[in-house]
Amino acid sequence: MFELLTKGRRKLAGKRAIVTGASAGIGRVLAIELAKRGVKLVLVARSRDALLETVAACAAAGSETAIVVDDITLPSTRQAAIDAALHQFGGLDILINNAGVSALGHFADADEERNRRIMEVNYFAPAELIRAALPHLANGVDPLVVNIGSVLGHRGVPHMSEYCASKFALRGLTEGLRGELRIKGIDLLLVSPGTVDTGFFEHLLEIRSKPPWFGRQGVSAERVAWRTCMAMQNRRREIIVGVAARWMWRMNRLFPRIVDRIVSRMG
Ligand SMILES: NC(=O)c1ccc[n+]([C@@H]2O[C@H](COP(=O)([O-])OP(=O)(O)OC[C@H]3O[C@@H](n4cnc5c(N)ncnc54)[C@H](OP(=O)(O)O)[C@@H]3O)[C@@H](O)[C@H]2O)c1
Repeated sequence: MFELLTKGRRKLAGKRAIVTGASAGIGRVLAIELAKRGVKLVLVARSRDALLETVAACAAAGSETAIVVDDITLPSTRQAAIDAALHQFGGLDILINNAGVSALGHFADADEERNRRIMEVNYFAPAELIRAALPHLANGVDPLVVNIGSVLGHRGVPHMSEYCASKFALRGLTEGLRGELRIKGIDLLLVSPGTVDTGFFEHLLEIRSKPPWFGRQGVSAERVAWRTCMAMQNRRREIIVGVAARWMWRMNRLFPRIVDRIVSRMG
């Protein structure tokens, strides 16, 4: 609120942004929403054809785009995204870490590879992309890092332990960096949605169990994208998206033992 009063709303028109995971789901809809607001976009994902569909939608909304087609866990992909922003748009103002994966199943039944893959995509890739982008963001206009976390970065649940751990890590990084980057004028926004109706649960690394909430309807990707854009403009530091997610977050803060008991019945 203080930042909003002193600096005013953040203008998005003309900003230069990287969006990871822009070939589907939240990332695609968010890219289109930003395109409508006049943001120039570097879009990153592994699926070329799907990414080109996002490009077409962004172009129809009037935005300039560049794409990087590769795995975000590779340092070369992250560097290519930054280079695209610098060479095609002359700089970088906004970094949106959205790409993410999960798996369903008990931790004891999984292996180290699953644990490491989820941490690579959901934590190490965004962390190292932020590190590589920092010098450029510091030269950007009203710079901002947006991390797409999850309400499961506030409250762990069974069947998704590694995913929860990765989103807790991303939240910790966001909070720690906020303290370090304030002096450089770089803001951080953490977006923590509950269940969102995307292909996320079709793209799981593996399914070894199905928790009671599997297949339940969530909020739309459009809702998450719109709330994210509003939060970027209004200089919010964190938003939790979805009624169920906000209820879970509040209950867990007030009555953690009761929530422990409820979620352990789902184990
Ligand atoms: N859906 C939910 O219920 C929900 C709830 C809370 C938070 N979230 C978070 O929201 C974010 C977006 O999820 P979503 O629901 O939109 O899922 P989605 O529909 O599965 O989209 C995931 C996106 O990430 C990209 N991606 C995945 N692994 C990648 C990699 N290694 N390198 C580059 N790109 C990669 C995918 O593109 P390619 O496959 O083409 O690479 C795709 O564009 C994630 O961080 C997720 O954790 C989702």
